[in-house]
Formats: sequence, structure tokens, C-alpha cells
Amino acid sequence: MQDSFLTYRDFLFLKAAGLVGLLAVVLYVGHTPMDVPNGGTWLGYGLGTVSFLLVLWLAWFGIRKRRYGSAKPLRGWLSAHVYLGSALLVLGTLHTGLQFGWNVHTLAYALMLLVIGSGIFGTVAYARLPRLVAANRGRQTPEAMVAEISSLDREARQAAMALDDRVTAMVVAASDRLELGGSLRRILSGREPSCRTAACIAHLEDLAAKGTLGLEEGAKLGTLVRLLYRKGELLHRARADLRYRALLDIWLHVHVPATALLIAALVAHVVSVFFFW
Ligand code: HEM
Ligand code: HEM
Repeated sequence: MQDSFLTYRDFLFLKAAGLVGLLAVVLYVGHTPMDVPNGGTWLGYGLGTVSFLLVLWLAWFGIRKRRYGSAKPLRGWLSAHVYLGSALLVLGTLHTGLQFGWNVHTLAYALMLLVIGSGIFGTVAYARLPRLVAANRGRQTPEAMVAEISSLDREARQAAMALDDRVTAMVVAASDRLELGGSLRRILSGREPSCRTAACIAHLEDLAAKGTLGLEEGAKLGTLVRLLYRKGELLHRARADLRYRALLDIWLHVHVPATALLIAALVAHVVSVFFFW
């Protein structure tokens, strides 16, 4: 098995995180008095303090990452980040004693869940998507796909001139602009519902099915359909590529701002419990 950040040193940090989580559960269950589990007992303070320190350490990863001036994550650090970050879920939850309400304490907890949730999403994305990106690209870069699409557009316009005006107009419309990208929702869907190339192909297939074309016209139609099929396949792959890259990136736009909000909410939480309890 490839030694990724998930398997780093035989799951060293998974084991460490499991141990820390287990220890917290054992302490929590054995804690007296158990009648009102609460963040204000010695164990509550202990778990809260450890959780807060863990959050600060996890957030420091953003700074650490940049210090190396490399876009590539540091494998050992990332491994520790992912597993100890997940252990925070256990520590933070036990600290609250499951007492939730509409207050800044629960806001801090909700933000913690958001950061951890987005982190898990990112981890799954990092583990799965690079392979899918490579398989989808084959030997072709996205730039090469776009270049081939424009050359197919030119050939298709040429081939369409031999057919009727409606076909020519549709092919010209389909090649008018590159039907890639658009809104975030569209990119994430990986589809283009009003794809003109697909409409064009559907129209040509209808024409062919009617069987009213002569031999020569039929052959020209065949050539055009082949060009458009190839273009359709390239568009499909280019959209998948954009979708994968967006998925690899989008969660960080939640993870990082939510981290900043979490730290602010935790400061407010700690200040308020010290003043009001
Ligand atoms: C990740 C870090 C933390 C999270 C997510 C968190 C969240 C919470 C939540 C949701 C509660 C329950 C509030 C309620 O009773 O309505 C709570 C209680 C409490 N927290 Fe934290 N907390 C964290 C860290 C800390 C730290 C560092 C301290 C202090 C050093 C602290 C001190 C307390 C105290 C004293 C209570 C009990 C309040 C009470 O008696 O109701 N917490 N915390
Ligand atoms: C409260 C807990 C957490 C905090 C405060 C936190 C904070 C951060 C920060 C500040 C970064 C750096 C992002 C950047 O600057 O680009 C980061 C990266 C990352 N986090 Fe978390 N994180 C937490 C929990 C988690 C968890 C539980 C997971 C996964 C299970 C996770 C997965 C990741 C991954 C995969 C990266 C790497 C991003 C990259 O290098 O491209 N995080 N986190």
C-alpha cells in the first residue's frame, strides 16, 4: 500500500488519537459525580483546556505549512493533524457534557463540528480525487483538451457547410464559445444542461434516423457526427476535471474561515464562563 499521510508510519497518529480518545472516555465514564456531566468540573476544565490547545495547534498548521514555502502538505504533520483533529471531536464533545443551548458555548461547539466536518471532507477528497483526476486526464492536460476542442470546432464548421442551414447554424452556435465552467454550482455538477454540442448531436441523430438523406449527404453527416462525438467526449472530460479540482479546493474555503471564527468563539466562551459562572 502506498504510504500516504493516512497510513503514515503504520498509522502512528491514528493509534495515538485512538488512545487519547479512549482515555478521555474512560475518565468521563469513571468521573464522579456523574449525575450532571458538566464543563465546570475538574475533568470538564481539563478536557476543555486540552481541546482549546489542540485547536490552536491544529490552526498553527496553516502557518507551518506556509513557512516551508511549499504547496505540498507535510506528510507527518498532515497525518497528525487529521487524526488528532478527529480526536478533538471526542474530547470537545465530552467536555460539553452534552449540554447545548442557544449560546456562545454551543456556537463554539458548532463551529468546531464545521471545521472537523470540512476537514473530513477534504481528507476524503485528497485520498480519492487525485487518482480520478489522473485517470480522467489520461495523457492529456486540460489545456490540450481545450486545444483539441477548438481544432474540432474548426473542422466541424467546415464539415457542416456541406449540410443544410439549420445544421450549419447549430454547429456555429455550438462552437461559438467554449461551454466549460460557469457558476460554482454548474462546475460542481460537472454537467452543462443546455450544452449546444449535445443539442447539435441530438439533431444530427434525428436527421440520420429519418433516413431521408442521400448517400453523399449521409457520409458528410457521418463525418460531422464523429467530430462532434469526439468533442462531446472531450467536453465531458474537461468538465469532470474542473469538477474534481473544485472539490479538492472548495472545502478549504470552509475549513480556514471557520477556524478563525472558532478561535474567536472559544475566546468568547472562555471569557464568558470565567466572568459569569
Ligand atoms: C474546543 C474547545 C471548547 C468547546 C467546543 C467548548 C464548548 C462548551 C460547551 C458547548 C459547553 C456547554 C455550555 C452549556 O452548559 O450550555 C461548555 C461548558 C463549559 N466550558 Fe467549554 N468549550 C471548550 C473549551 C473550554 C475551555 C478552554 C474552558 C476553560 C478553560 C472551558 C470552560 C467551560 C466551562 C467552565 C463550562 C461549564 C459551563 C457550565 O457550567 O454550564 N471550555 N463548553
Ligand atoms: C478544530 C479542528 C481543526 C482546525 C482548527 C484545523 C485547521 C486547519 C488549518 C488552519 C489548516 C491549513 C489550511 C491552509 O492554510 O491551507 C488545515 C489544513 C488541513 N486540515 Fe484541518 N483543522 C482541524 C481539523 C481537521 C480535521 C478533523 C481534519 C480531517 C479529518 C482536517 C483536515 C485537514 C487537511 C486535509 C488539511 C490540509 C490542507 C492542505 O494542506 O492542503 N482538519 N486545517
